[in-house]
Amino acid sequence: MTENQQYHFSLKTEGHTSDIFIGNYSDILKNIDRSNDAFFITDENLFKFYPSFFKNRKYIIITPGEKSKSFTKIENIYLKLLDAGADRSSLIIGFGGGVVSDITGFIGSTFMRGIDFGFISTSLLGQVDAVIGGKNGVNLSGYKNIIGTFNQPEFIINDPFFFNTLTEYEYISGAAEVIKQFIIYDHDSFYWFRKNTEAFKTKDASFLNELIYRQNKIKIAVVQSDEKEKGIRKILNFGHTIGHAIERESGIAHGNAVAIGMLIEAKIAVELDFLSQYDLNILQETLLDCQLPVKLETDIATLVNSIKKDKKRTGNAIDFIMLEAVGKAKVIQLTFSDLINLIHKVL
Ligand SMILES: NC(=O)c1ccc[n+]([C@@H]2O[C@H](COP(=O)([O-])OP(=O)(O)OC[C@H]3O[C@@H](n4cnc5c(N)ncnc54)[C@H](O)[C@@H]3O)[C@@H](O)[C@H]2O)c1
Repeated sequence: MTENQQYHFSLKTEGHTSDIFIGNYSDILKNIDRSNDAFFITDENLFKFYPSFFKNRKYIIITPGEKSKSFTKIENIYLKLLDAGADRSSLIIGFGGGVVSDITGFIGSTFMRGIDFGFISTSLLGQVDAVIGGKNGVNLSGYKNIIGTFNQPEFIINDPFFFNTLTEYEYISGAAEVIKQFIIYDHDSFYWFRKNTEAFKTKDASFLNELIYRQNKIKIAVVQSDEKEKGIRKILNFGHTIGHAIERESGIAHGNAVAIGMLIEAKIAVELDFLSQYDLNILQETLLDCQLPVKLETDIATLVNSIKKDKKRTGNAIDFIMLEAVGKAKVIQLTFSDLINLIHKVL
């Protein structure tokens, strides 16, 4: 596989097929119907880095960052689409990271009761996670992704070339989701990644193509067996129960918070005799190899209070993702009080 070669595969859910491409985005886009006439949604950073892409195209630019995933901002985009003449037969394409793709998916699922949409994903976190699986969510009053739909895009274009303009901070933070997907599901790919962290750091193009391919295949396998997250899909939340609380309290990047969250959740798995100390050490070394944080900077009381706030959403028992070994995880039920006792025990 060279950097110019492309992967093409699909995600099949009930009554729908999404085409997924990995490779040169402008070559791939040429073969997508209606792309010349599509409405693009992007953010200011992408517009600054790739201005020529938008020449002779219809586009809407949003402010980068999580704050754009709000109803007032969404309303504004609906109005701009109407002004620009978008109708039921229009195609909208999100050109950006996870924020842009979540917004595009949400707009595509609701504008005129749903129109076709696709993604050109530009961040590591976007390509391995946000664009695959059909979750399109926006935030409401501090609750993340609480309003949204399950609805699959027509196509996804993942081109690792975009990582060259991504900040180092965002790139490294995306590595947490990479490690998460390998460690919960694919033993061989986890060790393949560990062997190649140098290629990851230097952004070797053919390595990155294969990385995205392996990552997308995992997420597709999980989503195809449980699109609406009633069962196995929940394992993708490994590290997130605690990670979300860390993210909320400390404001660090999502991936950095998930890295620390994975480590604490894996320590709980060791404490409960599900996971070996050896595998816990392997996880820690891999996070450190990728320059991800492993230490909780928030104090434990703040963390626990933040997790308690989540209780409003989930009730007394929560689904806890139990790592059992490299490549293997399952969902178990824990009560909130057990989880909090365990956090105190392992920290
Ligand atoms: N729908 C899902 O299943 C799912 C899964 C995971 C995460 N998400 C969502 O994804 C979002 C996080 O995604 P993200 O980390 O991509 O955040 P993001 O979209 O905010 O991008 C991070 C930053 O990088 C910039 N950027 C993106 N690509 C760039 C590039 N190629 N060059 C230069 N700058 C670039 C953006 O402008 C932004 O400032 C969150 O809102 C999260 O909830 C959704």
